[in-house]
Amino acid sequence: MRGIGKLVVALSIGLGLAGAAAATPAQAAGEARSPLSRDWPHAGPFGTFDRASVQRGMMVYREVCAACHGLEYIAFRNLLEIGLSEDEAKVIAAEYEITDGPDELGDMFERPGKLSDYYPSPFPNDNAARAANGGALPPDLSLVVKARLGGENYIYSLLVGYEDPPAGVELGDTQHYNPYFAGGAISMAPPLFADMVEYPDGTSATVEQMAYDVTNFLTWTAEPKLEARKQLGVKVIIFLVLFSILMYAVKRKVWAGLH
Ligand code: HEC
Repeated sequence: MRGIGKLVVALSIGLGLAGAAAATPAQAAGEARSPLSRDWPHAGPFGTFDRASVQRGMMVYREVCAACHGLEYIAFRNLLEIGLSEDEAKVIAAEYEITDGPDELGDMFERPGKLSDYYPSPFPNDNAARAANGGALPPDLSLVVKARLGGENYIYSLLVGYEDPPAGVELGDTQHYNPYFAGGAISMAPPLFADMVEYPDGTSATVEQMAYDVTNFLTWTAEPKLEARKQLGVKVIIFLVLFSILMYAVKRKVWAGLH
């Protein structure tokens, strides 16, 4: 009897596992394809940003994405942290019109951006943004790397992953097919085309390269203190190791006479 009981338990566990395994890889309708995975220089306990790539990514954001997406948590002075000089950051800030005021007459006015300003949104409000984008809202990109499952791999895959829709998928007039986007139908047209930007360092601006660079840039905007956090982690571990050695030595000394 006990043998049969065990058999039943084993069988049901086996069936359960098989069911779970079958459910995972299957792509139910509306589920997104798992993102491609790339090696990111800032990954791992000792990871640091690839400054050159982050700067190239800033250029892609500035020349392509900024037409539709804001970066509301980044001030122009923050660009000094990724290696821009103050003059370079000032030039970028001055490209943007900032609403300031009120002046003595109580009116708001426009002026060129300064280092202390934050990236302004490209649209005056969400309704204007929706109206210009077929009803879909282009999200602010400051934190998007942290806000999406899959992080940088997802953002990268989304940017390089546009495809022709498979048979049977109906798209609206302003929609495009991207298997990495949940549901597949996205209201953002493929934003990147080869050689859209001209990198000053001579890097070839392929779609993959621009997607990689802008994703590195957006990882920095989402967590500018990533490097400091990792360095602190390493210091704490070193401290704990040294402290353990010291405590062991103390323990041996204190107990030495009692043996
Ligand atoms: C012409 C306007 C336009 C441009 C240019 C543009 N986007 Fe978008 N983007 C959109 C719209 C609209 C959406 C919302 C799509 C939706 O919800 O269907 C979107 C959505 C996104 C999303 C969110 C996807 C999600 O999971 O919700 C990311 C990330 C993104 N864009 C990144 C970028 C990057 C990076 C660039 C520059 C390389 C860029 N976009 C350029 C209009 C644009």
